[in-house]
Order: sequence, then C-alpha cells, then structure tokens
Amino acid sequence: MSEQNQPATKMWSGRFRDPLNKQFEEWQRSFPFDWRLLPHEVEASIAHARAIEAAGILTSEELLQMEQGLRAVAKLKNIADSEQAEDIHHFVELELTTQIGDLALKLHTGRSRNEQIATDMRLFVREAIDNTIAGLHEWRKALIDLAEQAGEAVMPGYTHLQRAEPVFVAHWLLAYVAMLERDDSRFADARRRMNFCPLGSGAIAGATLGLNRRIASDALGFSAPTDNSMDATSDRDFMLDFAQAASTLGLHISRFAEELTLYATAEFGFVHLPEAYSTGSSAMPQKKNPDLTELARGKSARLLGAATALATLIKGLPLAYNKDLQEGQEQIFDVADTLAGLFSVLPGFTRALTFRTAKMQSAAETGYLNAMAAATYLSNKGVPFRKAHEIVGNAVRLGLDKQLELNALPLADLKQLSEHFDEDFFVAISLRRTVDCHDVPGGTAIDRVELALNEARQRLDAAIDKGKSVSLQK
Ligand code: ARG
Repeated sequence: MSEQNQPATKMWSGRFRDPLNKQFEEWQRSFPFDWRLLPHEVEASIAHARAIEAAGILTSEELLQMEQGLRAVAKLKNIADSEQAEDIHHFVELELTTQIGDLALKLHTGRSRNEQIATDMRLFVREAIDNTIAGLHEWRKALIDLAEQAGEAVMPGYTHLQRAEPVFVAHWLLAYVAMLERDDSRFADARRRMNFCPLGSGAIAGATLGLNRRIASDALGFSAPTDNSMDATSDRDFMLDFAQAASTLGLHISRFAEELTLYATAEFGFVHLPEAYSTGSSAMPQKKNPDLTELARGKSARLLGAATALATLIKGLPLAYNKDLQEGQEQIFDVADTLAGLFSVLPGFTRALTFRTAKMQSAAETGYLNAMAAATYLSNKGVPFRKAHEIVGNAVRLGLDKQLELNALPLADLKQLSEHFDEDFFVAISLRRTVDCHDVPGGTAIDRVELALNEARQRLDAAIDKGKSVSLQK
C-alpha cells in the first residue's frame, strides 16, 4: 500500500495551527482496532456514492470509477499496521485517493464520520448476529441429536443440587435447547430492531444535501432509513442489545459447562470427557482436565463484562455523538470473537460426549427419588396429598434407619404407616413409572419427551430455513 500522493494528512486539519501532541495523536486513534470494519466501510461508502450521484454530485462515470476504487481498497491486505490513518474512515479516504486521485475527495460530500461509524457498526453487528444465529443452530442440532441418542437413559434431576426426581437424559438436554431457542429469538429480535440505516443523518442534524436516503438504505439491505438524525448518530442500543443477548447466551453456556464439569468428576461419573477436548496436567500424570467447559464458563464473564461496559459507556452521554462511543467498538469485536470461538468448539464437544448411563441410572435409583411418586400413589388412593407426603416422609425415615430404599421396605412395615399401601405400590414406584408419571406437556414421561424432541427438531428446521431467507434478503 502506498503512502504517497495523499491529501492533507488529517480529515480536519484546516482550523488547526499547532501540530498534535504525538502521544495524544497515537492514543486517540481507533485504526489499530477499527481496521476490521473495512468491508463495511467500503459497502457503506459505495451506497453513499450512489446516493450522491443521484443528487448530482457525481456523474455516472465518476460513480463507476469510485466504486471500482473502493472495491480495490476493500481488497487490501494486512492493513492493520498502517501508521497514518486516524480511523477506518480516514484510511479508506487515503487509500481511495491513491487509487483514483482527487475524485476520492468528493466522496465525503454530504456525510460525516458520525453517521459512518454508526452505519459500519450496524453492519458489523448485523453480520455478527447472523453468524451467532448460525452457531446457535449448529449447537442446537448437536444437543438434539445427543438427546435422541440418549434414548431412554435416565438420570437424577437435582434441585438445590440434591437428588430430586429421575428424568430422562433427553429431557435434561432439551432444557438447554429451550434456552437456546430463546437466545435465538433474542438475537433475531435485536436484528429486526437495529436494521435501519443512519446514512443521511450527517454529523448530527441531517445531511446538507437533498439525499434520497432510500438509495443507501436499500443498497445496504436495511429495512428503511433511521427516523431521527440526533438519535441515529449517537444511538448504540443495537450494540447493547447484541452484547446483552450474548451475555444471556453466555449464562446458558456457563450453566451447561458447569453441569458437564460436575458430571465429569469421579464423584458424579456421569459423563466421559472426550480426550479430543480435554488437557492433561504437567505435574499430575493421571489428570484429564475439563478445560473446554472451564474456559466456556469463563468466557461468559467476558460477555457479561462487555454488556456492562457498553451500558456504562452510554449512561449519561449527552446527545448526540461523543468520542466516548469509540470505546464501545472493541467490546463488540470481543463479543463477536468470543461467540465465534465458543461456537467453533461447542457443537463438536457436544457430539463427542458419551454418558455412563449405568452410573446415571443407579444414581437415579438411590436417594428416595421415587418419594414423590410414592406420595402420588397414596393420593391416587384417596389420601389427601399433604397426608400422603407425611406418610411417605415417615417411610423414608424408616428406610434411612434400615438403610433400604422405598422399594425394598417390607409391605408389612409400610402397612403400619398407612393401610393404603398394597402390592401394586412397588410397581408404582419403579424407576420407569416414577419417570412416566410426569405425563403432562413439558413433563419427563417418555411419550412427552419423544414429542418434545420431534417438536424441537421441527422448530430448528424451520429456524434454519428462515435464517437462510433472512440472509438472502440482506
Ligand atoms: N473513530 C470515530 C469513532 O469510532 C469515528 C467518528 C469520529 N467522529 C468525530 N466527530 N470525531 O467513534
């Protein structure tokens, strides 16, 4: 890339007599990070060029030349170390001048960097949302496939991290699918809300040219131009929406990671950690560590941190543009990179998981997890539930004293607690019946889980199709 043949080295030097303090000049530059907006800056510049051609600033011949020049700039490689550009907008202007000479200097007619950065960031976030939704779909698919493979395997469900009731492994996995469906809708919703074009808003008060704002908006795949120029140049809600949706997703990832970390311990022993996604210890030869789930849990802290930083940045900012806003970019880049990283490993990790189903089942069969089913048995015989609860509580106490599960207590002992206990009690509290008695929509009975699995798959297929048509629209 050539540094010769450049216009004034700053975009704003006219009114300044003194040179900038060198340290300040370097410190305030955003190019070291906003260089990655290059494709968006070029697309937005082409859209603006079309709008100013329609307004009579450029001839059609000049527009063609400008578009070609901008496309050539978009192809430049290894740009990050350019020392001259203050920011991506300055960089493109400098490089375009190298490509097409003074014609480049007409591009800034009727626009401001304030609307440019607002537009570039919207384009960046929109793309990041599309990538995130694609990643969510892939991970959802892996979870649904794993749930299907789990078949009729049973595990203990926990409340207060104490064994509560048995559930199908598939039911547990589908809980995460439900979270990811909400995440998907949060990102899709954010995308719909942000898909408006700031170009034409000028520095604060609107362009000083009679621009047809629809031209740029349509060229960039936005739904329409933004409504208010002061808002459009200073609004960063769309960045916050993205970061907040990402931090909620991060919380879900972190809960999944935490459970897998626990279930892979010797104490639980429910899951084999895939070696391809684990590491060893340099000190303790026997170790196989769950680094993937630990790091995934840690990444959620970054996502939450970014959302908090953005909210804090925006809070109390007077209208309209303030340079503080430049600080928000790196948070968003980090969110996008963090999510891309997570989705590069989560689906593969999920597919590589194998369960120790015998261990899970025996855990589900010990600890009186059928106590609720036992109380239901009594209440089906006409005992008021409150009383049934008390009677089964007594039976559990007896079992604890005798070190026996409910199924192993002699019927004679049970009859002493309630005359309603009979032979059929032992079938009613078998593992399978204990799970299957939760026969309501959303419950863990096998028919309900199979239905839920099919519905989850159908919703995923529909979401993937919709995703394809959304990105075609753009
Ligand atoms: N680099 C700036 C940013 O990221 C671009 C906008 C500059 N606008 C200005 N009035 N100085 O926010």
